[in-house]
Amino acid sequence: MKLVVCGKGGCGKSTIVALLAQQYAQSGKRVLVVDTDESNAGLHRLLGTEAPKDLMDFVGGKKNMMAAFREVRENNTPSPIENAKTIDSIPAEFISGNDGIRLVAIGKIHQAGEGCACPMGALAKQFLAGLELSANDMVIIDTEAGIEHFGRGIDKVCNAILMVIDPSYESLNLAKMVADMAATIGVPLYYVLNKTDSMTGQTLRNTIQDKSRIIGEFSQDSTILAAGLEGRQMPADYPAVTEVMKTLSMLG
Ligand SMILES: Nc1ncnc2c1ncn2[C@@H]1O[C@H](COP(=O)(O)OP(=O)(O)OP(=O)(O)O)[C@@H](O)[C@H]1O
Ligand SMILES: [Mg+2]
Repeated sequence: MKLVVCGKGGCGKSTIVALLAQQYAQSGKRVLVVDTDESNAGLHRLLGTEAPKDLMDFVGGKKNMMAAFREVRENNTPSPIENAKTIDSIPAEFISGNDGIRLVAIGKIHQAGEGCACPMGALAKQFLAGLELSANDMVIIDTEAGIEHFGRGIDKVCNAILMVIDPSYESLNLAKMVADMAATIGVPLYYVLNKTDSMTGQTLRNTIQDKSRIIGEFSQDSTILAAGLEGRQMPADYPAVTEVMKTLSMLG
């Protein structure tokens, strides 16, 4: 399964990606986390691993990659990521982690003035669309804040979308937009509430129109906050994750 995790800035996407990854790995799945957020560079720490080399370098950098993809479209040449179609075939330097959880990062903005992030979006989509999984593989995709990933076509090549909703007006607004976009592309959408307390959790549940989409709630938790602050690996046995995994398992 390919699961894309989205939501507004700072709502807890990367944290929940890491929590899910840990628990899926513990349950015996082979987990691949794909980092498509070109701005944030700390996800590897939450997974307890090193940062891999950008997958963008595997396809020759931004400029070469766009030219190569144009060639694919116009002249039907082989895709530059033809050789990374399964988790096992991704060259070691572009993947970090261990047997349980592996991490691929599409590409990061490293320097001022290096151009827009469009090539990262194009590569993320091509890579995810072409990635062939075995039954035991679980791919979890971390995204940049907002809804750019819909524009990039990432959600369309995934099996489910998990939107993280924190207690904010912005998140509630975004939830409606994401619901419309998910319906347009026909990909199942679920919500998890994050950083709630008894009052804000209830307010979110009262306000969200399609309550049947809510499949989990992560309360504001000082342990998570401390791990995030220190860049430490997330725990593998977090109770709220079990509920989310149960619903997602029904999708296959
Ligand atoms: N349930 C929680 N309880 C306490 N703190 C949390 C919780 N979830 C996330 N956080 C904290 O909130 C902050 C933002 O989390 P995170 O980086 O995961 O969000 P994000 O949505 O990935 O952000 P960005 O949009 O920048 O990628 C971090 O400091 C993280 O530790
Ligand atoms: Mg993040």
